[in-house]
Amino acid sequence: MLAKAVHKTYMKALKVAARIIPIPRPTLFSGADSAVELCDAIGLMNIGKLLIVTDKPLVEAGIVGKVERSLSHAGIEFVRYDGVLPDPTYLQAEEGLALYRQEQCMGVLAIGGGSPIDCAKVIAARVTNRKSIKRLAGLLKVWRTPAPLFAIPTTAGTGSEVTVAAVISEPKHHQKTPLMDPKLVPLMAALDPTLMTELPPSITAATGMDALTHAVEAYLSNNATTETDAYATAALKLIHGNLLAAYKDGKSLKVRLNMAMASYYAGLAFTKASLGYAHAIAHQLGAKYGTPHGIANALALPLVLNASLPSASSRMAKLALLTERGDRQWDDETNAKAFISYVVDLQIALGIVRTLPAIQTEDIPALAKNAVRETHWNYPVPHYLTRTQCEQIFTQLKG
Ligand SMILES: NC(=O)c1ccc[n+]([C@@H]2O[C@H](COP(=O)([O-])OP(=O)(O)OC[C@H]3O[C@@H](n4cnc5c(N)ncnc54)[C@H](O)[C@@H]3O)[C@@H](O)[C@H]2O)c1
Ligand SMILES: [Fe+2]
Repeated sequence: MLAKAVHKTYMKALKVAARIIPIPRPTLFSGADSAVELCDAIGLMNIGKLLIVTDKPLVEAGIVGKVERSLSHAGIEFVRYDGVLPDPTYLQAEEGLALYRQEQCMGVLAIGGGSPIDCAKVIAARVTNRKSIKRLAGLLKVWRTPAPLFAIPTTAGTGSEVTVAAVISEPKHHQKTPLMDPKLVPLMAALDPTLMTELPPSITAATGMDALTHAVEAYLSNNATTETDAYATAALKLIHGNLLAAYKDGKSLKVRLNMAMASYYAGLAFTKASLGYAHAIAHQLGAKYGTPHGIANALALPLVLNASLPSASSRMAKLALLTERGDRQWDDETNAKAFISYVVDLQIALGIVRTLPAIQTEDIPALAKNAVRETHWNYPVPHYLTRTQCEQIFTQLKG
């Protein structure tokens, strides 16, 4: 009871802070070849050499080369750090930072999914803040304006190109830590569907479910506003209309752009309204077992929604109507359950597993403890879950 009361009071304070603290937005370029427009715009800024932060598969796929040609055409010098792996670590951010300093770079351009973008955010923050990554982690710890930061997302999921967050992993202790600060929002971003057509179906599915989880958790958050609701519902409508199509045939530029917009809108929603238990659980699964972030969210979301029914059924009912699963004649609880089954059916149609046998029974108490701690210190969830309830969710996930 006391823990619940402390959480409630702390969240009220966060709600006030969220309304007062301004959150900037990147200048956005969108549509086919918008990455070229972004490079031209950076060229006009005359900021000097850029550090490109990316991963090796994107270099091998020719995606990074395509952007680099646009940079050269715009007269921009650059050097490339391509050592980012899924769920970037402190070490990768430090490696990128060392190259930034050695090459006397003046800005950072992320090309990739959430992993390169988050790594780039941490590098940019470390350039100007004389603090270790550990001390930059948490809420509002980035005191000095980071190095100029630009983002070209190549997945449609994290929304990191517009969010205040960067998630960084500390593999030794199996911890994924979020940095959350408005200063981490990139200056400019490009949503270019021509860079997304080769995204494999499995990653399209996982990242799409990440965007869906952002939209749903933001919509159900106690910090939701009319504005965040508008972005969350726009995102959900786009995901409802395009995710399966992107999974089945990723070549359509229209479908890819719609998913990129969905991810961006969901990012706008959750960067203000925040997230919930599904993300806290997903972060534990990612850190401990390397479960891809979107898969972990897809697995956790229906179970979290089910456990949250006592306080969130009327909001969930609206999502059922939005996804054409509900019926105005039904009561809220029936509609809410229809929305949960919509999420499960989508997960199955996208070929996503339903359970995670990698979870070890003896790990569950610590996983639940960390998930509850992350949630209760960060997320204004509509329904409070105890550690025991969270343990039950991990047990169900184990299958
Ligand atoms: N900062 C935020 O607001 C935020 C929000 C949610 C998640 N995250 C974090 O983002 C990370 C996950 O990011 P992600 O899901 O975008 O995946 P990712 O960046 O880890 O990429 C996954 C894989 O997809 C490949 N890939 C990416 N784009 C491709 C393309 N166009 N074509 C072919 N292959 C491509 C990559 O090379 C990589 O192997 C996690 O660490 C998660 O915690 C951050
Ligand atoms: Fe996410």
